[in-house]
Amino acid sequence: MKKILVTGGLGFIGSHTVVELQNAGFNVLIIDNLSNSRIEALEQIKSITSVKPDFYNIDIRSKEALKSFFDTEKVDGIIHFAALKSVGESVQKPQEYFENNVDGLVNLLAEIKNRNLNNLIFSSSCTVYGQADELPITENAPLKPAESPYGETKQIGEKIINESCLSNNLKAIALRYFNPIGAHKSAKIGELPLGIPQNLIPYVTQTAAGIREQLSVFGDDYPTKDGTAVRDYIHVVDLAKAHISALKRLINKSNKTNFEVFNIGTGKGTSVLEIIKTFEKVTNQKLNYKIVERRSGDITSAYADTTLANKELNWKTEKTLDQALLSAWKWQQKQ
Ligand code: NAD
Ligand code: WQD
Repeated sequence: MKKILVTGGLGFIGSHTVVELQNAGFNVLIIDNLSNSRIEALEQIKSITSVKPDFYNIDIRSKEALKSFFDTEKVDGIIHFAALKSVGESVQKPQEYFENNVDGLVNLLAEIKNRNLNNLIFSSSCTVYGQADELPITENAPLKPAESPYGETKQIGEKIINESCLSNNLKAIALRYFNPIGAHKSAKIGELPLGIPQNLIPYVTQTAAGIREQLSVFGDDYPTKDGTAVRDYIHVVDLAKAHISALKRLINKSNKTNFEVFNIGTGKGTSVLEIIKTFEKVTNQKLNYKIVERRSGDITSAYADTTLANKELNWKTEKTLDQALLSAWKWQQKQ
């Protein structure tokens, strides 16, 4: 049985990926420092898959802790989720973002090199494209100067991994996620926003649950179908499954390039008002919302061209927006 290390494996995307890895027959080890997750997720994963993954409470900023982990565990692949992810917070605390997201990655790559490991999957983001000139966005679209320290850490991360692939034995895939939403159908794992949510879907579900009074829709004067901004919202379980496909490609790889990048989205653009309408329809909840000013730094439209991932990873999305929003609502109701 192949052993896979999942850093950040108790977080939102990590926990769903651990479930899919176990479903696919992999043996999973998790490293997480619980800075944005709860240890309860471990039991919840077990209650879904009947297998409890091995857990290591390690901060990837600690070289020593990582070294002692790799002294005792030999792994066949690594999926690297562990990072800080709030765009706004990264502007306030850039150093923390560079330490967790860049130094942490460099520490991991040092262990990978020292032990001659390969097969790395990196969580990148559509944020690297900024406002793309052409839609849908292909992997060949130029990367725009990062708008935030968070975005910068993803661009730097991809570059460092690419260089490591050129100089070492490493084979790696960067997956550029569009907007992951939703939760496992069991509602046992999901997204845990700390404090006031910055992202749309948690704000929507918390408003419907009465935790927030009113959803602010940031701008209705964009040049889009209804004036509100457009994104590519992907069900987190579909996203998790893309990691299994990418991992299989790495493990079975023979003569292909050592560093590859894939967009992971649905290929479909949805506006904020469409999200609100769909949420109201599938949950039978009325959402209290108002239109306010645009949010500074927001782009108008982003959605993926997923042709490459569909073909090369032999992967495609299976779930609908209705299912994603309903699962997010079920998760919210259980909180
Ligand atoms: P998350 O915060 O839910 O999960 C990240 C996990 O990493 C958490 O469990 C946290 O405790 C852990 N972690 C953070 N810093 C750590 C450190 N120094 N050492 C060990 N563990 C650490 O976030 P998520 O939404 O699951 O995102 C996972 C990855 O995907 C991140 O790299 C993120 O940047 C990337 N990503 C997320 C989105 C999104 O919208 N959620 C979009 C694009 C890319
Ligand atoms: C979606 C849309 C908002 C909240 C962020 C990161 C990006 C990536 C994905 C990690 C936008 C609107 C939102 C609200 C609203 N993450 N909105 N009211 O901005 O596409 O991207 O998450 O890599 O890097 O920047 O996602 O969910 O914040 O916003 O009207 O209360 O919803 O203006 O149009 P975004 P989001």
